[in-house]
Amino acid sequence: MSLDLLIELAGGIDNVRRILSPSEFVIVAVHNNECCHPLPDGVTSTLVLGEWQLSMSRGDIGDDELRQVGEKLAKQQRSRAQPYQTPTYSPYRPQWHISPPQGLLNDPNGFIYHQGEYHLFYQWYPYACEHKDKYWVHLTSTDLVNWNYQSLALTPSDWFDSHGAFSGHAVSQDDGLYLFYTGNVRIGEQRHRQTTQCLAYSQDGRSFKKCGPVIRHLPAGVTEHIRDPKVFFANGEWVMLLGAQTTELTGRLAVYRSTNLTDWQFDGLYGEEIAQGYMWECPDTFILNEQRFFVFGPQGIKDDNPHHTIGHQNRIYRMSLDDTNHPTLHEGWQLDAGFDFYAPQTTQTPDGRRVMIGWMGLPDEVQHPSCDQQWLHQLTTLREIHWQDGQLKQYPAQELQQLRQAPHQLVLSAQCVDAQSASYELHLELEWGQELRLMAGSEHYVSIIADRERGVLRLDRQHTQIRQGDVIRELVLDSARIALVIFVDHSSLEIFINRGDKVMTTRAFVPSDATNIHLLGGKAQATLYPLRAASAPFSG
Ligand code: FRU
Repeated sequence: MSLDLLIELAGGIDNVRRILSPSEFVIVAVHNNECCHPLPDGVTSTLVLGEWQLSMSRGDIGDDELRQVGEKLAKQQRSRAQPYQTPTYSPYRPQWHISPPQGLLNDPNGFIYHQGEYHLFYQWYPYACEHKDKYWVHLTSTDLVNWNYQSLALTPSDWFDSHGAFSGHAVSQDDGLYLFYTGNVRIGEQRHRQTTQCLAYSQDGRSFKKCGPVIRHLPAGVTEHIRDPKVFFANGEWVMLLGAQTTELTGRLAVYRSTNLTDWQFDGLYGEEIAQGYMWECPDTFILNEQRFFVFGPQGIKDDNPHHTIGHQNRIYRMSLDDTNHPTLHEGWQLDAGFDFYAPQTTQTPDGRRVMIGWMGLPDEVQHPSCDQQWLHQLTTLREIHWQDGQLKQYPAQELQQLRQAPHQLVLSAQCVDAQSASYELHLELEWGQELRLMAGSEHYVSIIADRERGVLRLDRQHTQIRQGDVIRELVLDSARIALVIFVDHSSLEIFINRGDKVMTTRAFVPSDATNIHLLGGKAQATLYPLRAASAPFSG
């Protein structure tokens, strides 16, 4: 039986929703089942979780033939997603952060400086505020502030990524742009997960051709939770890092090596020395000031603070590689002490700075007020990350200064000052015992409290329109005073503390007229820069 006949039985390519190829079979899922009767011997039809699927033995159908179907499905998926690229009006929409026009955004992907421009992709599900079959949206920029929409670079169109082109990184090599990503597939009623690591290639930095899986099978000792490839060059070879879960349900780092970016050999599982959580996601690695670092998202982490109930974390560790690229992890830190910071990626600017962008969201958070306007989540601001005198420092990227408008000098006190903008940068020093209230209106506000008794800086978002998630984050600080640089952008707050020592990032939903600022417990001088809008990276 040929693949063409199966597609014909399915009512033609326009009625095909996805293609799957578990072990010895080929399956096509259809939109409408009415056309699919009667079926010849050798083809069966099954209802799988509300989706009709026609299945036959794969026989000698090759990957290329399946890819041709994938290309046709990709075309359909792009045109179906087109109306979802028009942004909805929303009072919560940021003015210069990257947000999805509609649907759900999660991790930044493939962040890289390549051929004179920055490329950034993000995980996107166009059709609802839900985590479903993910696309890669492609944006470019020359200044890290204004982003242009390019295309839907990857769609979940193929047998190896039918339930999501999951996260990964980019490599710039010999004029080409290589995207490494995880192909996520779910089979049958039990939604059995099938994971491969895939490659897509672009010669022109605009259109991407899928090359299919470069790693098809799981290494021994891990579950199907192995994903988010980061590829880099070290000691004369390419190295791929993957976040993984062992069959004992512990988080680990899986390492593969290659000499040509397409043939990969499994090397081993690492990270036992820091044993953290049941799964690691989204690895990244880079060198700062001759020291290598490793960034990842361990899941299932317990915190002693009773306010901190979310197990999904962000961490950075000092890492060393021996001559054969075996990693060892040394001491580590949380990258961000706020509520919403996950899955960050970095790239190097042409002048040598390491800039990082993250997802301002968390895996289980799906009920924000912006869902009322059909969009969910955004990316964080760009931050520079430095290693200075044995200390990690994170600063707002210097490029953000392009957004500044003429500053206002303010004296903050218990009397409210209207910021007259929902998007600004605020500089001040807080004294222990003081409370700063931002985004304040008649009922709503966010508090930043320097609690002298407990020696913590407390970020409190309980008086916002929050629908889901923790409301208090506490950060232990022992500095004499607390220098703050705060970025507010409609429904987000990013607080840089003590000149790069710490950062707290959070979503905060308040009505659009809640723009007042108060300081309780004294007075403080402050500088406020209203920020202008950046170009919105929606459809082209
Ligand atoms: C992290 C993550 C990744 C995965 C992607 C799917 O947020 O779960 O591990 O590749 O999201 O969208």
